[in-house]
Amino acid sequence: MPQPAEQPDASPPDVLQLDPDHPEVARHRRECPVSRTASGIWFLADYAAVHEATAHMDLFVDGFRESGRPTPPEQRFIHEIREPEHSAMRRVIHAALAPSTLRWIPGHTHEAGTELLDKALAEDGPVDLVEAFADPVLIRVTARLFGVADDRMETWVRWAEGFARKKMVDRGKGLSDAATDVIGDIDAVIAGKRTDPGDDFISRMQRPVEGYALTDLQIRTQFVFFLVAATGTTTQLVANLVWQLCARPDVQSRVREDRTLVPALVEEVLRAESPDAVILRRTAEPVEVGGVTIPAGERVAFGLASANRDPAQFPDPGEFRLDRQHATRHMAFGFGPRICSGAPTARMIAAAAANVFLDKVADARLAPDYRFVNVTVPWAHSPETVDAVLTAAPA
Ligand code: HEM
Repeated sequence: MPQPAEQPDASPPDVLQLDPDHPEVARHRRECPVSRTASGIWFLADYAAVHEATAHMDLFVDGFRESGRPTPPEQRFIHEIREPEHSAMRRVIHAALAPSTLRWIPGHTHEAGTELLDKALAEDGPVDLVEAFADPVLIRVTARLFGVADDRMETWVRWAEGFARKKMVDRGKGLSDAATDVIGDIDAVIAGKRTDPGDDFISRMQRPVEGYALTDLQIRTQFVFFLVAATGTTTQLVANLVWQLCARPDVQSRVREDRTLVPALVEEVLRAESPDAVILRRTAEPVEVGGVTIPAGERVAFGLASANRDPAQFPDPGEFRLDRQHATRHMAFGFGPRICSGAPTARMIAAAAANVFLDKVADARLAPDYRFVNVTVPWAHSPETVDAVLTAAPA
């Protein structure tokens, strides 16, 4: 595969930086859904193009690595691994995330959320719901998921956050020389679970499935992927959810009155405010998408948020609706053979977070001077803060 001399800063520029509702992005969806942007990155703008490309994910490889430096096989993230090994690894991850192993999530989220919201409701004036709720609730839930103490999880999450917020070039270097103290600590936890397994995701990743077993180095690699690509996105989903509840009092009262609408709320937040606005990959060989051939070695941005605003798939895409047909067909988790393995887990956490929020808070509104500022992670869409005025529900 031809390698460019140096990977430029791939923070999504030009059309890729625009809101999916922007007229220029809408024009791309209508007129040129597969195009090479001024920055040289290809942009897949409509649902059909993203859907078609995700069916052939094996033809796309990762675009985050520092180019020219080969990655040892055991240090390839799951989305960089090609078939047949990819499917074998996916089976291990799916077994480790089987629904029967996740029954504790609603109760644990409720308990952690109650404690955090009680504290937030005791404050005078507006509260930042990202700092007070979305971020710490995810630390508590993922600590239980991975079988580590909350403070250890918090240290790892802060490291992953710093990494995700780096520019692409620095991130490439960061991958090669990843923080040795954090990696050493993760290695120690993985080794400890080998001798003394618990009822957690890391311990279950150590169990072979259909004769395929992961080494501890492979588990560390995939765990770092989860820290960077899964924990942050799930926090962002919960932040987007409480932001939308505060911004849309009508939706808030409908869901409050009828909790069977919580799953529809989660799906519509995923569609309308996708935490991963784009995913970036590089073509491993020439790929035809929407009748256009993208040459080998090109960087391609899958416009997940833009696909989710495609009126051909979602009528009145700018409207926030709780009664969409085929509500789960959005692209927030990707699609096809590499669709997010953690989607059921993320949905379960988000639904539990919505329920505890509605239980504890009788009314939540954005602070009068609130302004949306996006997190500085280049591919993400989520508020840095959600400053809200809260009214406690009666005890
Ligand atoms: C709201 C939260 C989440 C979002 C929006 C999200 C989104 C995504 C997206 C867009 C992909 C890429 C799909 C593709 O390449 O076509 C992906 C892949 C993946 N995600 Fe998630 N994710 C979330 C949470 C999680 C969680 C909680 C886990 C696990 C604990 C997880 C594990 C994975 C794995 C293993 C893959 C790679 C699948 C493969 O390449 O076969 N994700 N996710």
